[in-house]
Amino acid sequence: MRAIKRLLTAFFLFLVFTAKADEGMWLPLFLQQLNEKQMKAMGMKISAADIYNINKGSLKDAIVSFGGFCTGEVISEKGLVLTNHHCGFDAIQNHSTLERNYIRDGFWARSNSEEIPNPGLFVTFIVRIEDVSKAALAGVNEEMKEAERQSRLDKNIAEIRRNLKKEATQDSYVRSFFEGNQYFLFVTETYRDIRLVGAPPSAIGNFGKDTDNWMWPRHTGDFSLFRIYAGKDNKPAEYSLENVPYKPKKALAISMAGMKEGDFTMVFGFPGRTTQYLHSEAVDQIVKLNDPVKIAIRDKALSVIDGFMRKDEQVKIQYAAKYASISNAWKKWQGEVLGLSSTKAVEKKKNQEAVFRKRVEANPAFKAAYGSLLDDLQNAYQELSKYGVARDYFTETMSRIEAFAIGSQLNNLRSIKEKNGEQAYKDAVPRISARLEDLYKEYNPAVDKKLFEVLLEKFTKDQPEEFLAPELRQLAMDYKNDFGKMADDFYINVDLLNNGAKVLANLQANPDLVLAANDMNRANQLFQQLNTFYAKTVTPKLSELQARVNRLQRTYMKAQMEVMKEKTFYPDANSTLRVTYGNVKGYQPRDAVKYDFYTYLDGVMDKYKPGDYEFDVPEKLRTLYKNKDFGPYGKNGKMPVCFIAMNHTTGGNSGSPALDARGNLVGLNFDRVWEGTMSDINYDPSICRNIMVDIRYVLFIIDKYADAGHLVKEMKLVYPGK
Ligand code: ARG
Ligand code: ASP
Repeated sequence: MRAIKRLLTAFFLFLVFTAKADEGMWLPLFLQQLNEKQMKAMGMKISAADIYNINKGSLKDAIVSFGGFCTGEVISEKGLVLTNHHCGFDAIQNHSTLERNYIRDGFWARSNSEEIPNPGLFVTFIVRIEDVSKAALAGVNEEMKEAERQSRLDKNIAEIRRNLKKEATQDSYVRSFFEGNQYFLFVTETYRDIRLVGAPPSAIGNFGKDTDNWMWPRHTGDFSLFRIYAGKDNKPAEYSLENVPYKPKKALAISMAGMKEGDFTMVFGFPGRTTQYLHSEAVDQIVKLNDPVKIAIRDKALSVIDGFMRKDEQVKIQYAAKYASISNAWKKWQGEVLGLSSTKAVEKKKNQEAVFRKRVEANPAFKAAYGSLLDDLQNAYQELSKYGVARDYFTETMSRIEAFAIGSQLNNLRSIKEKNGEQAYKDAVPRISARLEDLYKEYNPAVDKKLFEVLLEKFTKDQPEEFLAPELRQLAMDYKNDFGKMADDFYINVDLLNNGAKVLANLQANPDLVLAANDMNRANQLFQQLNTFYAKTVTPKLSELQARVNRLQRTYMKAQMEVMKEKTFYPDANSTLRVTYGNVKGYQPRDAVKYDFYTYLDGVMDKYKPGDYEFDVPEKLRTLYKNKDFGPYGKNGKMPVCFIAMNHTTGGNSGSPALDARGNLVGLNFDRVWEGTMSDINYDPSICRNIMVDIRYVLFIIDKYADAGHLVKEMKLVYPGK
């Protein structure tokens, strides 16, 4: 009987464990302890120590945080770094002019001397990671108010960093994990001389643009190449002509073998933010309130901008980046709502909560500590709800109207003048000028006026009176809700909103005059009134309730780990280095629809629309296709382009390497599939897939399309299975 029971328990534990096989973003330093066994069972052929090792070069030494917003990896002994096209886009755009349009035509340095520096861009290596929970939480207790707790933590962390043994060129940070239950220290090394080496034309690097974004099947060659430069001692150095290509501790080898269904893969990178341990009430609000509110506001904004972009070539260029970024999150939220609904995420959370509740009830110690926890969370989220929606209305509206952004820059300048004195004011003028210049570059008064009209109308009509500033209510009354007329009156004859060149010139000649004009600018007056009102009516409540929620979520996290002992927990993403792993696999998003796991160049040609903004295909690529001129990169007469797997990724994982069972580079992560974008809140192995571009497509474009084979020669290609 006992033996049978033991067997059954083992079997159930196995079930729980295997069901979770692909979920999780794991800390590299715990792989051996928590994941190695399972990774090997799933097909991994190397050990955890090959991935993360602080005593000798390991895979982690090839991974960088790219500019703090994406991931990159070192792929040659001369510091060549691979990342996404959309991660390198800013750099590519900055070097583009009408005559040398690198966005449209691509860019390839033919030698080191042609590689272009990018001031401000950096890559950060992780030297080592340490658990510093004890020291960080010393003297912290549950009786403390949140602010008191935070200031204690800040002191402890400052102390940890002060006492840290590290080299002069290294830096460090400490981050909170498991909602503030654990703390980890990261020792880092940052290189700041990062040069652009190559980028395909947008028609390859961003093929399919917004229409294909967040979608599978995908056919995008979303990559670009940079190089790390170092001082003669191979250490970080500011940009200099004397600098030399960085010699890495580890460069990834590149596999030419491709992937089969079921093959083991892992993705190593810097996922930004997930919230996997929310209470069901919070998930319910995301589905029913927050996402829909944000989507509806962006619907309006996007249709305004799109209308102008279609009519006006100049606006199309000016607003392209803005449009892409507004639409990226807009589209993701829609997928998220669909996915959370279709996988019944709220119900799933409620079921988990029921199990939790039952176990807590059955155990007196748990009951004393956590007896009211779920109800407290439910209540706190319910109280927070309307303020959360008010926050969404406010931020989504305010940040879409550039008139407010212009006002905000000059309000800052005014407060510097008043608080920090004449010299600081003088120093600040060029800085603020530069920001305004950037704003005006991507600004059109007609577009902004329409956004002002449409968004403020929505803001006013949708919200309860308690969240409307009295000045706004008065305006709506005065104008009989004719926001079009109101916008006309606010924008007409205002230089600040119609003549950026004049404003910038005046700012140089007589900044006081510009500040005076800004004070008279009715859009800015309204902006300040809305801000003041929000700071008075929403911010204090929101901070108070958010602090309560944070505290409860922290306890809930700790409680889940104590009560659900059979589960292996992973911390939410927080822009720190993580490993995720899963097998290559297609998926079935709905009844009768089944997606394969690979795409080919044939699919690019199927989507080809001559001259189209999203689906044009460069002539040379068409020729290579016609002649099946794929070099060593094709397979059986076909050129692989993208593939999907079950890796649990999120924003920030863009540019992350996809590695095979031996740790060789096989692909470059850049997106997730539409049905599975809710993985940030509820990873579901049936439909969550990450999208990668096949490394052979990257090499094919570099070598055969761009004739930059010298770059491929720098890399180490391997042929597993041959
Ligand atoms: N959806 C991907 C991510 O979240 C790619 C975005 C870039 N591509 C685009 N068409 N906007 O970042
Ligand atoms: N495209 C995302 C990024 O830029 C990745 C994702 O959200 O899956 O990081």
